[in-house]
Amino acid sequence: MHWLVVGTGAIGSLMAANLRRIGEHVVIKPRHEQATIQLLYNAHQLEFSTVDLPLTQPTQVFAAVKAYQVETVIEQLNAANLPVGSSLIVSYNGMLDNEASLLPPNTLHWVTTHGAYRHDNEVIHAGMGESWLGWAQVEHASSARPIEVFSVLNNALPPLNWSPAIHQRRWIKLAINCLINPFTVIHNCRNGELLSHDISAVQLQAAQEICWLAAYFGVQLGAEELVAQAHHVIKNTANNYSSMLMDVRLNRPTEVDYLNGFVARQAKLAGHPAPTNEQLWQQVLNIANN
Ligand code: PAF
Repeated sequence: MHWLVVGTGAIGSLMAANLRRIGEHVVIKPRHEQATIQLLYNAHQLEFSTVDLPLTQPTQVFAAVKAYQVETVIEQLNAANLPVGSSLIVSYNGMLDNEASLLPPNTLHWVTTHGAYRHDNEVIHAGMGESWLGWAQVEHASSARPIEVFSVLNNALPPLNWSPAIHQRRWIKLAINCLINPFTVIHNCRNGELLSHDISAVQLQAAQEICWLAAYFGVQLGAEELVAQAHHVIKNTANNYSSMLMDVRLNRPTEVDYLNGFVARQAKLAGHPAPTNEQLWQQVLNIANN
């Protein structure tokens, strides 16, 4: 199969390296113009050609990007008229207000708990996890899985689960990010240090708001369970700095608009405000902008 990996962050690079490892043909679309991309993975030096759209043959596109890049990537891919037989797999944190209309039909979501980071050109697979793949369109959720795409992705980065309930996975991931990341920015600390801050009551309020909104969109979650899961992740990633805190420290845009901001905006639209998420959102924006 021909693969195009969009995005050269940790997850895109990890997937590109592993697709290459199993013998797939992989090119990369980086954010900045470059003729080739070098990655060091498991002591192997890998070179990838970069690609200019449009593509001339059926290609499986794996886009692992920040939420605020999704719209641009989709516009570029739409303009490129992907050849018949291509598919689009997206992976990003958080949710977009317009994703139901933005994502082309037959898009797949890939949700993962694998941990990875890049240090210069080196890709480090820091935490083994698992992943889920499912159709993005709710009406399409119970359709059959795309056998070949599933099998290649599973060989590249196992284990992969087929998920007709991918939206539930995405809500859980969104909730965990909403219940950890803004607090690490507010307290300017590693994930594990959150255990010494008295945040449980606020986390529970935020979780209740997320559960209400998820239910409004047809996904049932439990607030106490989400807080417990967030605490579990905090303990397992105690030494890490969250992606949001790193973004603030490095003066990059954060994903808070697509996490607590998404919850606050959508809850307001649904007529059931989410003041705790609203406040976390604004607090992070204030810190990031100062
Ligand atoms: O965004 C992140 O940094 C991670 O997903 C996690 C584990 C929630 C916090 O470090």
